[in-house]
Amino acid sequence: MTDRTPQVGVVGMGYVGLPLATTLAEAGIPVIGLDAVQSKVDALNRGESYIEDVSSERFAPLVADGMVRATTSWDAMRWVETVIICLPTPLDDHREPDLSAVLGAAESLAQRLRAGQLVILESTTYPGTTRDELGPVLERSGLTAGKDFHLAFSPERVDPGRVDWTTRTTPKVIGGLTPECTRRAMEVYGACCDNLVPVSTPEIAEMTKLLENIFRSVNIALVNEMAMLCDRMGIDVWEVIDAAATKPFGFMPFRPGPGLGGHCIPIDPFYLTWKAREYDFHTEFIELAGKINSNMPAFCVAKLAKALNSRRKPVNGSRVLVIGVAYKADVNDMRESPALRVIELLIEEGAQVAYHDPHVPHLAKKGLSSVDLDPELLRDVDAVAVVTPHSAVDWEMISREAPLIVDFRNVVPANDGKVWRL
Ligand SMILES: NC(=O)c1ccc[n+]([C@@H]2O[C@H](COP(=O)([O-])OP(=O)(O)OC[C@H]3O[C@@H](n4cnc5c(N)ncnc54)[C@H](O)[C@@H]3O)[C@@H](O)[C@H]2O)c1
Repeated sequence: MTDRTPQVGVVGMGYVGLPLATTLAEAGIPVIGLDAVQSKVDALNRGESYIEDVSSERFAPLVADGMVRATTSWDAMRWVETVIICLPTPLDDHREPDLSAVLGAAESLAQRLRAGQLVILESTTYPGTTRDELGPVLERSGLTAGKDFHLAFSPERVDPGRVDWTTRTTPKVIGGLTPECTRRAMEVYGACCDNLVPVSTPEIAEMTKLLENIFRSVNIALVNEMAMLCDRMGIDVWEVIDAAATKPFGFMPFRPGPGLGGHCIPIDPFYLTWKAREYDFHTEFIELAGKINSNMPAFCVAKLAKALNSRRKPVNGSRVLVIGVAYKADVNDMRESPALRVIELLIEEGAQVAYHDPHVPHLAKKGLSSVDLDPELLRDVDAVAVVTPHSAVDWEMISREAPLIVDFRNVVPANDGKVWRL
C-alpha cells in the first residue's frame, strides 16, 4: 500500500459522502473519510462498500492504492486542504430542522481549523445555514470565514440507484462566501466533476437544492391527487400520464405511488417551511404537497381493502404479501419508506403481512424478514400489494400466480381483471 497524504477530508461516509470520496479518489485526489460509526470505518478500510451505488470492486483498489482511507478521528481533518461535510440533516420530533450533526462537526473542526483551509457543506439545508450557522461555529477557532479560511455550500444532487447521472456527470452548483471561496471550491470539484455551476452566494446554492426537491414533491403530489380523482372517476391515470408525456414541450411526467420516501423529498421542503416562518411567510405549496403525499399509504390500503372486499374478504385475517419495502426501486434505503406505513396500517386492520424485497432481507422495525417469491407462496396469499418496483422482481410470475394484485406502481402485467391499479 502506498502512503499518500490526503488532500480532502469527507465528513460522513453515507449515501452522499462515500460516492463523493470515491469520485475524488478516482480523479487522483487522496481522500480521508471520517465517520462516527466504527464498523463503517473498518469496512471501508477493508475496501468494502456498504452503499449500493459504489461496488466493493470499484472501491477496494482505491483503498489498496492508498487513495482512500477512513477514520473516526477528527485530528485527521487538521492536515487536509479541504473538508467536505456530508452529514445528515433530518427533522426533529417537532418536524423542525435538526442541524446537530452538522454543527457538532463544525465544533470539532473549529478546534483544529488552520488558516487557508476550505470547508464545504453539502448537506441539504435552509438558506443561511452556511453563512449564519456553520461560519460562526467555525470562527470559534479564532479564524475569520472568507478571510482566514474559505467557506462554501455545494448541494449534493445524487439520486441513489441511478446510473445515467453520477457524482461526476451531474452538474455541481457551488456558492462561496466570497469569490475566492467559490474559486477554491471550484478547483476541488473541477478535478472530479464534469460541469461546474458557480453561483453568487451560498444562499443561492442552498435555495437551489430546496427548489429542486420541492419541485419534485409538489409535482408528485399533483399527480397523486390526479390518481385519486381518476380512481374515483374510473379513468386510468397511467394512460393519461403517458399520453400527456407525448407533448414535446411544457410537460414533464411524474408518476403516482404509495407516498414519498428517502432522506430528501419528504424532509427537505420542511427546512424551508421552518425558515420561511421567520419571514412571516407560509409555504402553502409545500404544506399541501406534504399533506397529499403523506396520505397516499392510507389511500393505497383503502384501495387494497376495496379489492379484497370485491372477493368477499375483509382485510382482517387476510394474508397480504407486500412486494418491495425500500423507498424506491433498486435500492436498500428504508428511510421514510411509505411501505412502513402501508404495513403498519395493514397490521392495524388485522391483516397477516409478509413481504418480499431482494434489497432488504430484514425489516427489524416490524420484526419481519423477506420471504422468497415462488408460485406456491403467491397462490397461497389473499392479495399482493406492489409498493416498490424493483427490477429484479418477476412481475410476470406475480401476475400469473397471485389471486389478487393491487399494483401501486403500474408494473404488473394485466391478467383477467385480477390486477387492480392505483
Ligand atoms: N441520500 C440522498 O439521496 C441525498 C441526496 C442529496 C443530498 N442529500 C443530503 O446529504 C446529506 C447526507 O445524507 P446521506 O443520505 O448521505 O446520509 P447518510 O445517513 O447516508 O450518511 C451520513 C453518514 O454520516 C455519519 N454520521 C452521522 N453523524 C455523524 C457525526 N456526528 N460525525 C461523523 N459521522 C456522522 C453516519 O454514520 C453516516 O455514515 C443530507 O443533508 C441529505 O439531505 C442526500
